[in-house]
Amino acid sequence: MKALKVGIIGFGTVGTGVYNVLQDFKDIEIKKIAVKNINKKRNIENFDETLLTDNPYEIVNNPEIGVVIEVAGGVNPTYDVLKTAIQNKKHIVTANKELLAKEGSELFRLAKENGVIILYEAAVAGGIPIIMPIKTILCANKITKIAAILNGTTNYILTKMGEKELSYDVALKQAQELGYAETDPTGDVEGFDTAYKIAILSTISFNKKVNINKIYREGITKITAQDIKAAKELGYTIKLIALGQVVEDGKVDVRVHPMLVAKKHLLAKVKNATNSIMLTGKPVGELVFTGAGAGAEPTASSVVGDLLVLASELEASNHPLPQAICNHTEIADQIDIGDTFNEYYIAINASNNPGAIGVIGTICGKNNINISTIMQKGTKDDNTAEIVVITERSKESDVQNALQELLKSECIKKIDNLLRVMN
Ligand SMILES: NC(=O)c1ccc[n+]([C@@H]2O[C@H](COP(=O)([O-])OP(=O)(O)OC[C@H]3O[C@@H](n4cnc5c(N)ncnc54)[C@H](OP(=O)(O)O)[C@@H]3O)[C@@H](O)[C@H]2O)c1
Repeated sequence: MKALKVGIIGFGTVGTGVYNVLQDFKDIEIKKIAVKNINKKRNIENFDETLLTDNPYEIVNNPEIGVVIEVAGGVNPTYDVLKTAIQNKKHIVTANKELLAKEGSELFRLAKENGVIILYEAAVAGGIPIIMPIKTILCANKITKIAAILNGTTNYILTKMGEKELSYDVALKQAQELGYAETDPTGDVEGFDTAYKIAILSTISFNKKVNINKIYREGITKITAQDIKAAKELGYTIKLIALGQVVEDGKVDVRVHPMLVAKKHLLAKVKNATNSIMLTGKPVGELVFTGAGAGAEPTASSVVGDLLVLASELEASNHPLPQAICNHTEIADQIDIGDTFNEYYIAINASNNPGAIGVIGTICGKNNINISTIMQKGTKDDNTAEIVVITERSKESDVQNALQELLKSECIKKIDNLLRVMN
């Protein structure tokens, strides 16, 4: 392998992991590392501080550097920095899911125009190889469905809520204390991070550009200890699920929301910060990829893996890996959440008077919803009762109409939660 000269933008969790792993690869020379705060103390043994710069353009404009490893994150200024790198004919290895989900189209177009490659194994599910398998060995398949747990923070919080019957707030606080959740957890708990990842996975799986702004997204903040308990009694566990599937007429259904997952389902068994991706393709059938979705070492495994694949390809020929190029021209026709079909869990607070269950049954029936389970979960001091309903497969818009109608009924006080169900 020829000596490859690289620049690293970002020297945080992933950047330091990549730096450490690269110490074992003598043919790869790190020329420069860009950081935000050059005065920050870096706890790395025998580290040559002169490698650092606070100007990423020193990397992307350096004629000696062939590959830019971008592990800084965010869109600004990363997007402009990487555009300059590509225009300067540098290949890119990135872990930045947000940037790819929002601006991937333009970056891949520019990369094609300039004859360079963007590899991004680490951007989805950290250490789990999923991008490269889909783009290489699985390319004989028509992939029709992905169902995945793609965010370790939320899976950790939901696991602890389930195991210890904790409230969301307590579980979040514990996750923050243990370093599983950031001080501002919004990106994780509101499902943004998961949405970026399923946008990328769906785009490469279905060969159609998925628009991040059209992905229906719900986070885990409204899940209560009561929901967790009811789900458990019904034989389910609650998970934040990313779904991407091809539906009728080649349209695609891409969304992120919590789901009650049947305990026998493989995704129900995925605990703590682990990620898992179930993929359905023809002819391969069903595949499951499970492992560490984040962390310095697993993520560095993917970043350095991309780098070594790139290095050996560049050694073999001067042409980019054909499968590594993203040149999707077709735009995905994404359906609205109202047009999706699901089974549902509905938690209803009703007055504890005769007839409430009858009202629920009548309104569901009027809206084409078959109930498969209905149970009353005890009464409260204010003479209201918690009623939990599980429906058969129904159309989301019908369910939303039923909820509006239920709220107009005198005996229904509140819809506590509506969650979708995966069996
Ligand atoms: N953490 C994970 O496990 C993981 C897993 C998969 C993918 N990713 C992705 O990897 C990327 C990095 O994540 P991380 O967790 O390593 O983040 P991090 O720990 O916050 O590190 C970010 C690094 O980027 C540097 N930086 C920020 N703005 C910069 C700028 N304008 N110019 C140059 N350097 C800049 C920071 O400099 P200072 O050190 O001076 O602050 C820091 O070194 C993100 O896109 C993330 O989504 C992370």
